[in-house]
Amino acid sequence: MNSKEKIASTQAEGEELLENKVMIEVKNLTKKFNGFTAVDHISFDVKESEIFGLLGPNGAGKTTIIRMLSTLTRPTEGTASIGGYDIVKQDNKVRQLIGLVSEKMIMYDRLTAEENLRFFGKLYNIPKNTLNQRIDELLELVQLGKWKDSKVGTFSTGMRQRMNVIRALLNMPKVLFLDEPTLGLDPQSTVEVREFIKKINRENQTTIILTTHMMTEADRLCDRIGIIDHGKISTLDTSTNLKKLVSGGDTTVLKLEIPNLTKKMVAAIQALDCVKSVSQENAAHLKIHATGNEAFDSIIDAARANKAKINSVENLQPTLEDVFLYITGREVRDKADNKIAMPNRRHFRPKQRIR
Ligand SMILES: Nc1ncnc2c1ncn2[C@@H]1O[C@H](COP(=O)(O)OP(=O)(O)O)[C@@H](O)[C@H]1O
Ligand SMILES: [Mg+2]
Repeated sequence: MNSKEKIASTQAEGEELLENKVMIEVKNLTKKFNGFTAVDHISFDVKESEIFGLLGPNGAGKTTIIRMLSTLTRPTEGTASIGGYDIVKQDNKVRQLIGLVSEKMIMYDRLTAEENLRFFGKLYNIPKNTLNQRIDELLELVQLGKWKDSKVGTFSTGMRQRMNVIRALLNMPKVLFLDEPTLGLDPQSTVEVREFIKKINRENQTTIILTTHMMTEADRLCDRIGIIDHGKISTLDTSTNLKKLVSGGDTTVLKLEIPNLTKKMVAAIQALDCVKSVSQENAAHLKIHATGNEAFDSIIDAARANKAKINSVENLQPTLEDVFLYITGREVRDKADNKIAMPNRRHFRPKQRIR
């Protein structure tokens, strides 16, 4: 079942999902660094065997949340529990339940794949026979079985990241934290790691919290997504429902191709009451979120009144990126002016990134 089907079936079996046990409960979790609030009274629940995504730009507070939940740092305020255990008062119990894959990779290049895993397995006090069997199974699971005796230093980044993930699975955690699991990976490895994450979730019913700044990643993997910005969760829902926020009701997303695009045209479109946001994709394309039945006509009229040559108009299905834009209102106010000011340098915004 792919993630789309999974979301669909999750919705169809909504009642069943409600009955699922809450595995992670976060209440008013807050972290301050010398007066700066990195995580600001965040609350959410994650159900057993759910894949929950924290999606947000760099600096939003994602890693700090993961570090608190995985007992690496203490909250300034608020509480959280995992499997019923308090992350501060019962941190040892929590540690037995969790596995963590962080942005930083710890692997010994001069040891083989198997030696690395055995080293980390010993830290968990896993009996030798059990550990050996588990290492073999995990290596097979990520198709690294035949590289068991090769030094990790010779591995590609994708292979290393798969090692990094199975290292976190050695103690068979009920809860797995993945902090930007595909950061810095090439497209092929990214696909592999995502497939693997889904497989772990499906086969072991592992509850997963993953953080990402990539819209497509959250969209493909997560049952529910919390959009996080400046240390707060602004919206939390399934990917499908988040998109309905944008496309639901009378909201439309239009893409206009205007080869002679000017700042004045953008300003005129932006000034319309029906327009919620305008983002410039590149020198000739505008993406516009608008509401109301008159939106289409008003936008075209405003563009034409400013001598726009309109090559094409597309009615788009919203993406999670649109949702972020819709919720935070960011993009054109910060960036579009610069984009237009430099007509010779085409600015293509990387599609999956929030910023
Ligand atoms: N140890 C720290 N000391 C001071 N500030 C920190 C520390 N860790 C994180 N921050 C700040 O907290 C904010 C959130 O950081 P982080 O949780 O790493 O965000 P994300 O993982 O979403 O990129 C950032 O502004 C960051 O600079
Ligand atoms: Mg981070």
